[in-house]
Amino acid sequence: MHPSTVIVREAITDDADAMARLCTQLGYPSESPAIPGRLERLRADRNARVYVADSGGTIVGLTTIHLRDTINHDAPIAQLTLLVVDEANRTRGVGRALVQAAETFARDRGSNRMTVTTALNRADAHAFYERIGYAQTGRRYGKDFSPPRTT
Ligand SMILES: CC(C)(COP(=O)(O)OP(=O)(O)OC[C@H]1O[C@@H](n2cnc3c(N)ncnc32)[C@H](O)[C@@H]1OP(=O)(O)O)[C@@H](O)C(=O)NCCC(=O)NCCS
Repeated sequence: MHPSTVIVREAITDDADAMARLCTQLGYPSESPAIPGRLERLRADRNARVYVADSGGTIVGLTTIHLRDTINHDAPIAQLTLLVVDEANRTRGVGRALVQAAETFARDRGSNRMTVTTALNRADAHAFYERIGYAQTGRRYGKDFSPPRTT
């Protein structure tokens, strides 16, 4: 893959196999048939975008971005909600290009801040974000809910 051959575009249903592969690489095992429904929901949300990095027809990266209105800011807050570059194509500028596309969407929609949360054990991601101008400003806390009762 040559970086100049990569274009970033919105994801389409035909990208499902590649998106499942990339989600799996990120640590979220996914099957292709699950992707179109998820993609459809995101595409129906005007505050969300799904971008892929396409290298001559091969999908080498994936990102999702969400905008949120809040009560303490006039401008929407943008959040990078997923980012992964294919294992065989890292450190070639794909991640940076995907984040740039997400930032452009956010700016065009009036946002002036992007946030991203990343697990403590993702040292490569920390180095990447700092390299492209992001600063560590907080911690993330999480809690898994039990599945809702059906009876
Ligand atoms: C993090 C990730 C998206 C970066 O994508 P990438 O395409 O490899 O990054 P890029 O090539 O665009 O790198 C941009 C800059 O960051 C630097 N960088 C990237 N990974 C780095 C690392 N592990 N250590 C140090 N610097 C790094 C690059 O050298 C480059 O610097 P430069 O501008 O001086 O050339 C990719 O490594 C990945 O998918 N990792 C696994 C999934 C993951 O952690 N996702 C983030 C979850 S929040």
